[in-house]
Amino acid sequence: MGNLLEGKKILVMGVANKRSIAWGCAQVMLEQGAQLIFTYQNDRLKKSLLKLIDNEDLLIECDVASDESIATAFKQIKQRFGKVDGILHAIAYANKEELGGEIMNASRQGYALAQDISAYSLIAVSKYGQAILNNPASIVTLSYFGSERAIPNYNIMGVAKASLEASVRYLARDLGKYGVRVNAISAGAIKTLAVTGVQGHADLLKVSQERTVDGQSVTTTEVGGTCAFLMSDLATGVVGDVIYVDKGVHLI
Ligand SMILES: NC(=O)c1ccc[n+]([C@@H]2O[C@H](COP(=O)([O-])OP(=O)(O)OC[C@H]3O[C@@H](n4cnc5c(N)ncnc54)[C@H](O)[C@@H]3O)[C@@H](O)[C@H]2O)c1
Repeated sequence: MGNLLEGKKILVMGVANKRSIAWGCAQVMLEQGAQLIFTYQNDRLKKSLLKLIDNEDLLIECDVASDESIATAFKQIKQRFGKVDGILHAIAYANKEELGGEIMNASRQGYALAQDISAYSLIAVSKYGQAILNNPASIVTLSYFGSERAIPNYNIMGVAKASLEASVRYLARDLGKYGVRVNAISAGAIKTLAVTGVQGHADLLKVSQERTVDGQSVTTTEVGGTCAFLMSDLATGVVGDVIYVDKGVHLI
């Protein structure tokens, strides 16, 4: 238990279950004294979230595919909780059939969907979030090394992560004047629901683990440590950056 985030209210978007990176981040932020509010995509995800959080008052529906849903969610958050100090965006989606084989087989629609949910949603969340963010505040999103390297099967999601990282830089530039910092964590491969959508994910996880500096995959708690730091006032100088939290996989 620490007090890095004492007095801070943070919105956590993207907990699907206890394996979710957002859940690892939530645990560390709670330990550091933050008050958390959670969004869920739909009723199915709400049920799953209720297994982890028994206070329904802290949960708000937000499907990032819809501007209306985002606008309504942020309005409700402001009414119920007032302004917040941070937003964790841990959301991505692509159709399973797009995450395998050669990228030339990607469909126009599938590409657009991956970009919409995995990259544009950060811009939309920042736009509606701006009205409910304090000064200073911090927005943190989750990226992956596939933005820079052609990882087998990751394909259009890698392209979406490249867009996401570029969006972080542009958002950081534009939100800076409101005291809002925007950064990404590029996490190492972790077995979550999202990863199981990638063809051959067992190999991806195995190779990633082998390429860490100590042969141990990064954990959601370790990602959470960096998330807590980025949400805290210790990180006021970190702006528009992508920080690797992957146990060195990107080095080798
Ligand atoms: N697991 C990994 O190896 C890894 C590595 C680096 C980055 N990431 C990124 O971390 C983030 C979290 O993923 P995860 O691995 O914890 O998987 P996860 O499946 O636990 O979380 C993904 C979340 O995205 C949400 N989501 C998808 N579409 C949505 C929509 N339309 N509206 C609202 N929410 C929506 C899901 O409900 C889910 O909560 C993603 O951006 C992912 O790309 C994951």
